[in-house]
Amino acid sequence: MTALCEAALDVLNTPDAVEKSQKTRRYAAAWRKGEIYEIGQVDLPDRPARSERPQLLAPKDMPRRAKAGSPRSKIALLHALAHIELNAIDLAWDVMARKFALGGFTRPKGFYDDWVKVANDEAKHHLMLEERLNALGASYGDLPAHDGLWESSEKTAHDFAARLAIVPMVLEARGLDVTPGMIAIMEKYGDEETARCLQIIHDDEVTHVRAGTRWFEAWCAHHGKDVEETWQDLVRTYFNGQLKRPFNHPSREEAGMIRDWYEPLAEALDSSESVA
Ligand SMILES: [Fe+2]
Ligand SMILES: [Fe+2]
Repeated sequence: MTALCEAALDVLNTPDAVEKSQKTRRYAAAWRKGEIYEIGQVDLPDRPARSERPQLLAPKDMPRRAKAGSPRSKIALLHALAHIELNAIDLAWDVMARKFALGGFTRPKGFYDDWVKVANDEAKHHLMLEERLNALGASYGDLPAHDGLWESSEKTAHDFAARLAIVPMVLEARGLDVTPGMIAIMEKYGDEETARCLQIIHDDEVTHVRAGTRWFEAWCAHHGKDVEETWQDLVRTYFNGQLKRPFNHPSREEAGMIRDWYEPLAEALDSSESVA
């Protein structure tokens, strides 16, 4: 195989989570070594292939979380994160291989370099979380998982700018906001190993959001559009509801997310965050 889009299609059509992750890591290495060197063209499936397990449930049917700090709640958290990472692998390949209407904007080699790295990181994250689950006597597939994650991909399947505006710049940026709290909980309960994994995930995710802002800005520059206004319009159109506080401003800043872009779209300030 020499074309990146064919690698993408193969990963998207692979149902098993571990196999999907391992294929991603192999194809990413082949891209870095120049063994995969052309982009190619494919027709993508509407939804990526999934195993029978985990059972996918509507968000309202998901079981309630167990008490914080209990082994059951830790397994539930790691399982939910492993599910997010699995979807993130597919999303990274999808944005590389989808035939978006780009209005004359071409995705240059640097774009594919960035997203191959994202896909590779997500596969690493999924496998790390699977390892943590295994250490607790569980594995991915044991619990039901949220079936809403592919929705933002479907909603933005026709629009490249909307895809970047929502997936890296809203959803992955939200990951930067919530991960430090999870790290603190793991440390509080003495699970240094899980805390360390989550820190790696957080630090990698900064680069994913960074890739989102970089290519969103490039797309806006190509079309002569204002970045702030265009991003806010797309989020209002494609994202349900307001952005949640509290924000992790330092990590967002490192990722190129400007505070003036996202503050106007956030829920009203509450006492959990100062205005400073
Ligand atoms: Fe990730
Ligand atoms: Fe990511």
